[in-house]
Amino acid sequence: MTARQRRDVHSLPGTWPPLLRAYALAIGVMAELPPEDPRSLAYQAAVHGTDAIGKADGYLNECQHSSWYFIPWHRWYLYYFERMVRAVLREIPEVPADVADEWALPYWNYGKPGGETLRPEFAAPELWDGRPNPLHNETRNAGVNELTVVVAPQVRVPLPGVLDRPFSAPQTSIPTFGGPATGWNHGDEPSPQVAGGLEGTPHNGIHQYVGGDMMDFARAGFDPVFWLHHCNIDRYWEVRGHATDPLGWDGVAFGFRDADGSAQQVTADGCVDTVGQLEYAYDDVTRPEAATEGLRIREGRLEVFAEIAEFEIPPEVVGQSDGLRLDGAPIGTDVPLGRVSRLFAAARAGGTVPRHVYLMVNDIRWDADPGRDYGVYLQERTSSADDSRLAGVISFFGTRRGVDDHELSYSFDITDIVRALRETGDWDPDRVPLTFRPLDGSPVDQPTAPVQVGSVSVVYQ
Ligand code: C2O
Repeated sequence: MTARQRRDVHSLPGTWPPLLRAYALAIGVMAELPPEDPRSLAYQAAVHGTDAIGKADGYLNECQHSSWYFIPWHRWYLYYFERMVRAVLREIPEVPADVADEWALPYWNYGKPGGETLRPEFAAPELWDGRPNPLHNETRNAGVNELTVVVAPQVRVPLPGVLDRPFSAPQTSIPTFGGPATGWNHGDEPSPQVAGGLEGTPHNGIHQYVGGDMMDFARAGFDPVFWLHHCNIDRYWEVRGHATDPLGWDGVAFGFRDADGSAQQVTADGCVDTVGQLEYAYDDVTRPEAATEGLRIREGRLEVFAEIAEFEIPPEVVGQSDGLRLDGAPIGTDVPLGRVSRLFAAARAGGTVPRHVYLMVNDIRWDADPGRDYGVYLQERTSSADDSRLAGVISFFGTRRGVDDHELSYSFDITDIVRALRETGDWDPDRVPLTFRPLDGSPVDQPTAPVQVGSVSVVYQ
């Protein structure tokens, strides 16, 4: 068996290419199967989440977020979903046998010019022959199905440096590629829930852009584009490569049902080789390009970050802001900076200048979909937005509504921004001015629902 190719959905030629015809027909069948059938769309969505809290039967309500299991768990999830689709396709007479056998998930590369909206086959209400289109989902945000609102440039690809961050870290204040080292975490671990770098952007940002079912843990899998979105997220693991995959994360096993209903137990290290272990490959794993001039400036000044050894020097919080409320307008706040501790200096042979500076946005809560992402800028509110000072983006998928005590946090690497400010004499050692600005893309109906941010902190390492 050779590896199947996972391809960029926007690169498939023509209208309704065979791969998408097959996908639409399969989703149509899966939507009608009873929810206890593992091949049903309802079952597949419930594997990700249900409205219940905590572990279900070991196969449902399993999605892993704010965790180093986020990337491998979703890889396995797609792997079994793809097998369900093929199993269903083999039983649909109008699908040619070779199309069914070779069917692999395409990915949605919103980071590539031309990919900033849905592919039209996902937005059209009807199939090529006038039947209702199972790929259409009417819960999406206004403008998404009309292809008139594009993904904001700041959320199209991972933020600068994220592909080079350590995969995971023992302290949640250290920004990572894949998420903090946790146990099994379906929102059940104690706060804080800190998203990994890839999980934040583009992952959470794209959930926010599409909206509707895609904003809900228990409904996301019902949107057929969910699977293409996650396929692109999965692809970024291949873009990064596997040289720095974590050690010691294979202690937790995850259960999945296969297409024949059989129960499978898998671990994170069982899915690191897509060709050898899972029989698929991506057609393109080149590094993405930042979509704005400011982000390209950030890319240019990033140095390659040192790996694991860094963890031996603990990070330290040197300043924290008050809470703030985001309501759709740009909002400024200040993080007052204190001095580093004696322990900090002692660990650095008396030095007090940090090698790395991180910005944490802590304990984010919302009740209704805020409708947009916010960029967090190291700028005064009166300045005009400059992406070379964009610390990161906060998006609101990944907070579980109504669940106290599981607020979402983000950690961003701002070392290069701070260094650039120092060089031009614009760094104030006593305070960091910040502005939260709503980003374009996926505006839902006005007024925007408010977001509560617990605090923002500056961390030195
Ligand atoms: Cu578990 Cu994009 O979600």
